[in-house]
Amino acid sequence: MEAYNKLLLNNKAWVEDKLQLGEDYFSEMALEQNPTFLWIGCSDSRVPAEDVTGAQPGELFVHRNIANMVIHTDYSMLSVLQFSVEVLKVKHVIVCGHYGCGGVKAAMSKSDFGLINNWLRHIKDVYRLHATQLDAIVDVTERQDKLVELNVIEQVQHLADISFVQRTWEDHQRPVLHGWVYDMRTGYLNNLIKVDPGEHSHDVYRYDFLT
Ligand code: CO
Repeated sequence: MEAYNKLLLNNKAWVEDKLQLGEDYFSEMALEQNPTFLWIGCSDSRVPAEDVTGAQPGELFVHRNIANMVIHTDYSMLSVLQFSVEVLKVKHVIVCGHYGCGGVKAAMSKSDFGLINNWLRHIKDVYRLHATQLDAIVDVTERQDKLVELNVIEQVQHLADISFVQRTWEDHQRPVLHGWVYDMRTGYLNNLIKVDPGEHSHDVYRYDFLT
């Protein structure tokens, strides 16, 4: 059997399983979505957002990219963020990194990966911000783990610096921003940082809203 056929067969079994919960399961799900959370995670196949959090369909709005980055010129991420914050009215935005992240490892190397160098460059920038602390860590895995954590915190702060996030903070006192790290070696999530509405990272990123 071709590998992809397994996925299609699994889907049939999954439908049967869900219909056990009620014959209207899918027709009700199709009516609308009302997720509480936006999850910004890594594309890594070992970090499935719903599985590690026990979330059900309809609970998480999800954006994933290499190394769970929040880059202020990334219109895909920004569109997902604006839609989820302004239209879906999510209460929490979670940036979830993971130890052993290939993107972070690649950014710490001097290898040339072609086009993706320009994406990884943003992680190199986080390294430079914390170079003194990171260079002092002798063990390579420990240094990678620390950069994974510092990168998550940096991306959460990037969320706090976005004008429409700040406007929603002012108008609706949400969303709360979270930075988590998933440990593939144990399965546990590590809660690193929580930023409440109005907690600005630096004054230079702060907007005044006149209306
Ligand atoms: Co990763």
